[in-house]
Amino acid sequence: MRIPDIIIAVDGYSSTGKSSFAKIIANEFSFLYLDSGALYRGVTLFAIENNYIDDKCTIDAEGLEKALGGLDLHFGENGTYIGDRCIEKEIRSLAVADKVSPIAAVPQVREFVDRKLHEFGSRKRVVMDGRDIGTTVFPDAELKIFMTADPMVRAQRRAAEMQAKGENADIETVLKNLQERDYIDSHREASPLAKADDAIVLDNSGMTIQDQLEWLKNIIAERFCQA
Ligand code: CDP
Repeated sequence: MRIPDIIIAVDGYSSTGKSSFAKIIANEFSFLYLDSGALYRGVTLFAIENNYIDDKCTIDAEGLEKALGGLDLHFGENGTYIGDRCIEKEIRSLAVADKVSPIAAVPQVREFVDRKLHEFGSRKRVVMDGRDIGTTVFPDAELKIFMTADPMVRAQRRAAEMQAKGENADIETVLKNLQERDYIDSHREASPLAKADDAIVLDNSGMTIQDQLEWLKNIIAERFCQA
């Protein structure tokens, strides 16, 4: 299926499989995939390692803002990098997941990430996943999907994913983390997680990735491929 040059925004709750879905979409339609959450996770790792956030999640926002000027955070061959150090594994840990939502609520951090996302989005044929892509980052995106799923299903999927990578993850801890993140993400002042008015909701609790792709192809055929 050939689709026009558009931006696809995939937003939604934590661990709903946004990034897996966005990757499949990118692969299917030869789009560039951009993981905005990875950038927030990268800033969080940087903040932890340089003591801009403490164990109680108190943030030195002023210090962090200044330091962001010198932070070379980017995507490379194996995922996310700071300079030439690949940080892909570290940013997926629970230690980072624990602190990412407070960091992502800092307006200066959002500006830093938004600037990077806009550099990529100036071209089309991009699929981006996050929390505010369809509402704030690319409000004009031609196709917006808002993903949700039963919290227990999400926790089971995420715990299995982490265990497969050899990380210790029990379902209760993962469930608590994703519910806390959903709460902070939905209630923060700076571009909170919300469904864009023109986004299509996808509840994938009982769906496979293949089901999701079929669902999407039907929508694309209807919207963009009419004779
Ligand atoms: O993969 P998962 O859904 O668990 O999270 P993620 O997409 O890696 O995002 C991690 C965190 O970054 C989220 O919980 C949000 O706090 C923040 N985030 C955001 O605020 N805005 C975005 N566009 C993307 C992520």
